[in-house]
This record gives sequence, C-alpha cells and structure tokens, in this order.
Amino acid sequence: MSILSHLLKMPALTGAVAPSSRYLASAMARATGEVRHVVELGAGTGPVTKALRSRLPHASLVAVEIQPVLAQQLRNKFAGLDVRLGLAHEVLDGLAYPDPAAVVSSIPFRSLPQGMREITIASIEQFLRRVPGSRLVQFTYQPRVPFEAAADFRWHKMCSVWRNAPPAGVWVLRSLPAT
Ligand SMILES: C[S@@+](CC[C@H](N)C(=O)[O-])C[C@H]1O[C@@H](n2cnc3c(N)ncnc32)[C@H](O)[C@@H]1O
Repeated sequence: MSILSHLLKMPALTGAVAPSSRYLASAMARATGEVRHVVELGAGTGPVTKALRSRLPHASLVAVEIQPVLAQQLRNKFAGLDVRLGLAHEVLDGLAYPDPAAVVSSIPFRSLPQGMREITIASIEQFLRRVPGSRLVQFTYQPRVPFEAAADFRWHKMCSVWRNAPPAGVWVLRSLPAT
C-alpha cells in the first residue's frame, strides 16, 4: 500500500467537523498581506480558495489537496485554478518564486500522524527560508501556536474568528531577520 492510499483512510487528515466558515476564510485571506504568489495547502472544499481568489485576484494561486474527490471538486468549482493532487510537502518542495509568497494552510497539524506532521513542517520552514519575506498563514482550534517551529521563526496571532465551528485562531509564521 502506498503512503498516499494509507493516509487517505485516516480521519485525522481532515481534522475538522465542518468546512471553514466564510469569516475564517476571509481572515485567512487578509492575513496573507499583499503578495503576488499564494500556495494553499489542504484546500478541501474550497472556502479559503474562494476568499483568496477574491482578495488577491492577480496573484498566482496553487491549491494542494491530498484527497482525489476534493481535488476534482476544486477543479470543477474554480475555472483555471492550478490544483495539485498530492502531499503538501512534495508540492511545496518543488516550488520557487522570485518574490515573497504566502503559504496558506488548513492542514490539521495537531491531529496529523507524527511522521507526516514533521515532514510537512520541515518542508514549510525550508520554503520560507528559500523564498525570503514569505509567510505561513495557519488556523488552529487550539489555544496555542499551531505547531512548534524552528528557532529561526516566530508566530504572531492575527485574530480569533468566533463565527466558525469551532472558533479558530489565525496565526502567521515568519522567519526572523538574520542578525
Ligand atoms: C480542515 S480540512 C479542509 C479545510 C478547508 N478550508 C475546508 O473548509 O474545506 C483539511 C484538508 O487538508 C487536507 N490535507 C491534510 N493533510 C494533507 C497533506 N499532507 N497534503 C495535502 N492535503 C492535506 C485534507 O484532505 C483536508 O481536505
């Protein structure tokens, strides 16, 4: 059995009881800042994708989703969207941009299997180092940072979104300037 077909049997991949509300989706899109490139990890049913397209209509957008049915739905729903069916870290490792990008993630780090969590976090950190000035936007239902990042990064909480089930915090991760 491939790692992908094994993972697809796990409810921990989704980590949510309901799709992200439009309020959470808008808060995620606002937290990107004014970037020209966006990579969405775990696009799911597409509410954050919709908010990103609306707020940043001229930015390039790559949407990554591991579940084939959801990836196909995203293609049907958003004409012309660059949808990649696969694992977030594998797609992210193949991307490079000439200027800052936002990685916008709905991946449920607190419920992912440890190995998958570690490899995905490492890939995000490498991307943020490789594309200077970039940021990760991540939501969490927990009253703490979405995951422990390496020492050269800092989390900043942007807002709480109460109109979501359950309520969520939107966080941004950036690398610290070199001293
Ligand atoms: C919280 S859910 C979806 C959130 C989305 N905003 C929504 O409302 O539909 C998280 C999504 O991440 C996807 N996912 C989890 N781990 C992934 C990975 N390693 N690579 C790509 N997608 C992943 C799941 O399949 C799921 O669709």
